[in-house]
Amino acid sequence: MLSKKMEKALNKQINAEFYSSYFYLNMALYCESIDLSGFAHWLRLQTQEEHEHAMRLLDFVLSRDGMVELEQIDKPKGGFKGINDVFAQVLEHEKMVTGLINDLYALAVEENDYPTQVELQWFIKEQVEEEKTAKDILQQLKWVGDKDTALFMLDQKMGQRQLASGEEE
Ligand SMILES: [Fe+2]
Ligand SMILES: [Fe+2]
Repeated sequence: MLSKKMEKALNKQINAEFYSSYFYLNMALYCESIDLSGFAHWLRLQTQEEHEHAMRLLDFVLSRDGMVELEQIDKPKGGFKGINDVFAQVLEHEKMVTGLINDLYALAVEENDYPTQVELQWFIKEQVEEEKTAKDILQQLKWVGDKDTALFMLDQKMGQRQLASGEEE
């Protein structure tokens, strides 16, 4: 059984993962609006991934006989000033999520909740990857600078992303 405190905190994280999904979708829409369909494709897949994170946690709460209560999802942040700004915001967002996961883990330790610690270890590893990916793309965008041909090529590359079935494990 989950403690009430842990259950509440996990519910909050489920909402945060749904928000992440919504936030990435908003960035995908922005990329469509500036004709970067490859980046939009990449961000749409990220939307799916975040949705899977939410579902993974939701299933975990259920498997521990916890209750899931869905809350309102905030309006996603917008007002992007170009593609570099999008990925700067991705990095900032993922760093913030890493902080949330770390806090959850600290709570699981405090509560002597070993199953939740094990479950969260998957998320801790995932966040390392998420931050690295965002940093790598941001770096590539910096190299591209204002060269349209290079941006075109990077957009093509982003459009090739596939959601590998192993990506979630
Ligand atoms: Fe996530
Ligand atoms: Fe993420």
